[in-house]
Amino acid sequence: MTSRRGFLGGAGAAAGAIAALGAPAVAQADAEPFFARHQGGIATPQTQQTQVYFAVFDLATDRRDDVIGVMRAWTTASAVLQAGLPVDRLDHDLALPPADSGEAIGLNPARLTLTFGFGPELFTYQGKDRYGLAARRPEALADLPFFPGDQLQADKTGGSIMVQACADDPQVAFHAVRQLARIAGGAVSLKWTQTGYCSPPANGATPRNLMGFKDGTMNPRVADPKAMTASVWVGPEGPAWMQGGSYMVARRIRIALQHWDQIKLGFQEQVFGRHKYSGAPLGQKDEFAPLDLDAADADGNPVIPANAHVRLGAPAVNGGVEILRRSYSYSDGANFTAERWPPWRQAMEYDAGLLFICYQKDPRAGFIRIFNGMSRIDALNQFTTHVGSGIFACPPGAAKGSYIGQALFEES
Ligand code: HEM
Repeated sequence: MTSRRGFLGGAGAAAGAIAALGAPAVAQADAEPFFARHQGGIATPQTQQTQVYFAVFDLATDRRDDVIGVMRAWTTASAVLQAGLPVDRLDHDLALPPADSGEAIGLNPARLTLTFGFGPELFTYQGKDRYGLAARRPEALADLPFFPGDQLQADKTGGSIMVQACADDPQVAFHAVRQLARIAGGAVSLKWTQTGYCSPPANGATPRNLMGFKDGTMNPRVADPKAMTASVWVGPEGPAWMQGGSYMVARRIRIALQHWDQIKLGFQEQVFGRHKYSGAPLGQKDEFAPLDLDAADADGNPVIPANAHVRLGAPAVNGGVEILRRSYSYSDGANFTAERWPPWRQAMEYDAGLLFICYQKDPRAGFIRIFNGMSRIDALNQFTTHVGSGIFACPPGAAKGSYIGQALFEES
């Protein structure tokens, strides 16, 4: 499945090799620790990194030991990559391809976090239980239903193992995934990827999405362990191997930006139920003021419309459930599009939008429930089309000496 060199070169050799190259010392302050109770890239770091390289792999093996080998190698390599080191020795043998591809040599670790998740296809692939794991598939790793308006593309959907690489440097994030894919050799096969970015203003204000609205205001606070336990981390209700982990739902959502740009400011604000510039709920001044869903205007109409995005996402209408949104904007060039809504423009349009990523302890109570309502009546649907999708069980973090997902593969 992989070369001996790929699996064994790793961590030990890397530190020496980078020193030998005379590369600048790594600023440890920008390195996120890998071995921890929870995987990185969910609650930490507190400010979302500015770049994501999101990759989903198929597994090209029927042997469980090969999958275990991949997860072992990826765990070891991730710790090295997050420290800002090359994943293999940088050898000078002119007769061999260099092991680490080298584009991150001398770069700051840039708060790289590597987060792994298992898709339904790890447990059953085309009806086959390839690894004897089918019985261990958690109920919460539910197949996402078809939602009204879904236009999912097979080449942007599903997959067995997901890697979310977040960093403040796009080259660092890409390098990391590229090394992981390489050291897994033929055992994995790239299924789909998505890059994205998130640009927080320097003053620490909430970042804005491509529709120009602040996005992330009403999230559970990642620094508050109680909020995370309540909404994000799997607890004793889940299987042992998932406790301390979380479920990710990812959606590649294309936004008709040229259409949006023709929409009057007042209507843009009605779509979300918030003011564009301040981010405050309609009728209020403070971004963080609680939503008053009962507020009515002089005519008795709700101030936050019945089909406003924030109303439909609010815990008050979703059984009190909160999800942690950790999305990235994407911009992938332009292609010819026929819009789904009046005025049905047909033109070259930006292939741009949101790589929506959310984490929760149970997607049936989280994303599935919330989006079930939204996909039917959200005013935002006039501008958005869901074209890619995935659901993944992200196990807890690994302790030194173990590997991500060990309790799934080795549970008796
Ligand atoms: C392109 C697609 C989307 C855009 C541009 C978008 C944008 C926004 C914005 C601007 C807000 C208000 C500010 C905030 O609280 O962060 C918001 C809130 C929210 N969105 Fe979205 N969103 C999108 C898709 C989704 C999807 C697919 C879901 C599915 C679950 C979702 C769930 C939520 C939730 C739960 C809230 C918080 C509601 C609250 O508690 O007030 N969003 N979104």
